[in-house]
Amino acid sequence: MNTPNNTQDTDGGILSSDLFGGFGREWNPKDVVMTPPQIARRIVQHFKPTGRILDPCKGNGAFADEMPGCEWCEIREGKDFMEWQEPVDWIVSNPPYSNFYEWLLHSFALAENVVYLIPTQKVFTPLRCLSAALEYGGIKEILIIGTGTQCGFPLGFAVGAVHFKRGYKGETRIGYPPNSVLPKK
Ligand SMILES: C[S@@+](CC[C@H](N)C(=O)[O-])C[C@H]1O[C@@H](n2cnc3c(N)ncnc32)[C@H](O)[C@@H]1O
Repeated sequence: MNTPNNTQDTDGGILSSDLFGGFGREWNPKDVVMTPPQIARRIVQHFKPTGRILDPCKGNGAFADEMPGCEWCEIREGKDFMEWQEPVDWIVSNPPYSNFYEWLLHSFALAENVVYLIPTQKVFTPLRCLSAALEYGGIKEILIIGTGTQCGFPLGFAVGAVHFKRGYKGETRIGYPPNSVLPKK
């Protein structure tokens, strides 16, 4: 059963058309991991997105609820981000991991700023992700939140909100928000 909570389903992906009658792209139950609202709130308060804002995968709305007026996609509601083609000023969310590289490329094609809450190794371990980020611009900031487990995610790696910015060639700041579960220094 595909339940939109943090219980992991070991089945493979299913077709969204199986549930909604006609949408073609597959979605993976393992991608459905919700962000605790207080973590999403802290991230939005920190980065203060403005202009046209998109949550590309709103899930239950942890980020979208903190960004009034934002636009959103959610494949389980029939809005596939990979089909979104309009430019935006900011993308802010916790993305699916199963197709992270393609997801990142699509985000870079659309947005001036991209903030994703992700295991930090998602950016640095696959060289192609790091290369794509540097080609897009750079990483302006990584706001470390804690381990995945401490954030309520089913993984133990360090998790941070990574701010990618188009054309950015400055230094990368690594910080801890006031309510981070990790030490401040
Ligand atoms: C890691 S969850 C995070 C949900 C929400 N952003 C949050 O932080 O609580 C990723 C979400 O991406 C959605 N998703 C997966 N593929 C998608 C696609 N192609 N377009 C839109 N949403 C997608 C999943 O259904 C899931 O709700």
